[in-house]
Amino acid sequence: QRGKLLLPGFVDTHIHYPQTEMIGAFGEQLLEWLTTYTFPVESQFADEAYAKEIAEFFIHQLVSNGTTTALVFCTLHPESVEALFTEALRLNMRLIAGKVMMDRHTPDYLSEDAKQSYRQTRALIQRWHGVERLGYAITPRFAPTSSPAQLHGAGALAAQYPDVWVQSHVAERLDEIAWVRELFPKARSYLSVYDDFGLMRERAVYAHCIYLDAADRALLRQRRTAAAISPSSNLFLGSGFFDYAAANAAGFAYGLASDIGGGTSLSPFRTMLAAY
Ligand code: GUN
Ligand code: ZN
Repeated sequence: QRGKLLLPGFVDTHIHYPQTEMIGAFGEQLLEWLTTYTFPVESQFADEAYAKEIAEFFIHQLVSNGTTTALVFCTLHPESVEALFTEALRLNMRLIAGKVMMDRHTPDYLSEDAKQSYRQTRALIQRWHGVERLGYAITPRFAPTSSPAQLHGAGALAAQYPDVWVQSHVAERLDEIAWVRELFPKARSYLSVYDDFGLMRERAVYAHCIYLDAADRALLRQRRTAAAISPSSNLFLGSGFFDYAAANAAGFAYGLASDIGGGTSLSPFRTMLAAY
């Protein structure tokens, strides 16, 4: 047939399904955007029926945009993971997802302790990793919302389950980096906080990677760890620009991502256009 293209399915390397309903929430910058809009929306996923409704809508949206593989953040509620994997399994998707781990600097209505997040993550790995085409990702949200104890637990699981993925955020904004420096004064850089806890290895994917230095880029390559680049999100939240030339020179792996709901479109074509 003329005027049609036959393509392999697209891969979205970083996306938050609980933020589907808040795409385009008024343009604050990262840290205000999280507390004002994101955390209240994510708290709704304690409700299994709500999680199921959004999971079904989200997966339908992915597939209708041609995305057949995605690395997905859920919320800290195990119910949110159950809902997503159940629907992905029904459609036989290649979906990699995990419960968000966050045990500090979050509102009371959205917090957990390090032991609980460790146990729930381990139980979800055992239940879902390798079921048909599904994979589990150990998912500490980002260094500021995890205590050292929680990152230690995440690193222990990453060592115990080497074929499970790891995903988080790094170096998205300068004020975020300054905060991480206060919280982890001994770390060489924001990225190396994750390395110090054993969270940089093959199958680890870090979103944004905007404000890196040469040592960080060399470390990404050395650890065979990848970056997920989210240009529409970086524009929407005013975060900055990924340095493609420096990444190519350093030789680490990267892929494009929508980062819904910081990102503004589920269409990989829109993401590619924003990257351009
Ligand atoms: N950093 C920590 N959490 C988030 C999130 O939900 N979205 C983005 N863009 N950055 C984050
Ligand atoms: Zn993100």
